[in-house]
Amino acid sequence: MKALREAANGRAIEVIDQTKLPFALEWLTLSTASEVAHAIKSMIVRGAPLIGVAAGYGLAMEAGAYELLKETRPTAVNLKWALDKVRAATDKWAAARAIAAGESEACRRIGELGRPLLEKAKRGETLRVLTHCNAGWLATGDWGTALAPIYAAKAAGTKVHVWVDETRPRNQGALTAWELADGGVPHRLIVDNAGGLLMLRGEVDVCIVGADRIARNGDVCNKVGTYLKALAAHDNGIPFYVAAPESTIDRSLASGSLIPIEERSGDEVRGWHGARLLPETTPVGNPAFDVTPAKLVTGIITEHGVLAPAEIAR
Ligand code: MRU
Repeated sequence: MKALREAANGRAIEVIDQTKLPFALEWLTLSTASEVAHAIKSMIVRGAPLIGVAAGYGLAMEAGAYELLKETRPTAVNLKWALDKVRAATDKWAAARAIAAGESEACRRIGELGRPLLEKAKRGETLRVLTHCNAGWLATGDWGTALAPIYAAKAAGTKVHVWVDETRPRNQGALTAWELADGGVPHRLIVDNAGGLLMLRGEVDVCIVGADRIARNGDVCNKVGTYLKALAAHDNGIPFYVAAPESTIDRSLASGSLIPIEERSGDEVRGWHGARLLPETTPVGNPAFDVTPAKLVTGIITEHGVLAPAEIAR
């Protein structure tokens, strides 16, 4: 499945409006860099690889929009990676298209390389996986990162069950549940804090998540809540894998503490789709990502191979 495609006129893109899921599947046409910037900022398009792809097309629409697009979201390095590639290219639309195709192929390969790792962790008849946020095809354009090995395992005939973290405050878990339902993968959505209990009870064989930026020392920045899952996995001797394409690795940063963490509006915590959960006067903090230290990560699955966190620097 695709979350972004070129419009028939060859000068615009069409994206699934992820703010409408899981209730409605609506495609939106984006034909200017400002429209692309707004879609990224408001999370109509989201997920590190997909915002990179979208930003690349945005710059192809308007060559002067580099800063406008770069400042939309600070954490996922894929954004700058894609903008730099398109800025350096003569044929900018062709460069954006090549990024989209490259990320799709990278994710397909991540699925292939990650599948045996998940299957090796299986302890019973069913492979029981826990994931956080949405790192499927909605977040990458095609296949997904963390979900790609799950889809590959399912396609190979392995019995799979996925525990899906709700992922407050934007509920990306609902997107994952929607994707898995669409792909016929058995799953159950759980509140963010349930993962520790399930791991302690022996109901999780393996955890796999995506990433927004990986530092040179193998520290992994991903959706807020990832760190706590990694801690619980470590305490329970459960493998904790990170799946990400090369475009997510930032070797210019020595460690995860240098990664800028996006702070989003408190309104995302105070309410949801017009429903109020808290009074407007409640003070709220809303860091969108956290950093999992390299020592808690079992392996990083990239399109080029499975690396120990310490091997990222090479
Ligand atoms: O704020 P979001 O929804 O864009 O955050 C997405 C994540 O944190 C994903 O886990 C990450 O981008 C990997 S997507 C393949």
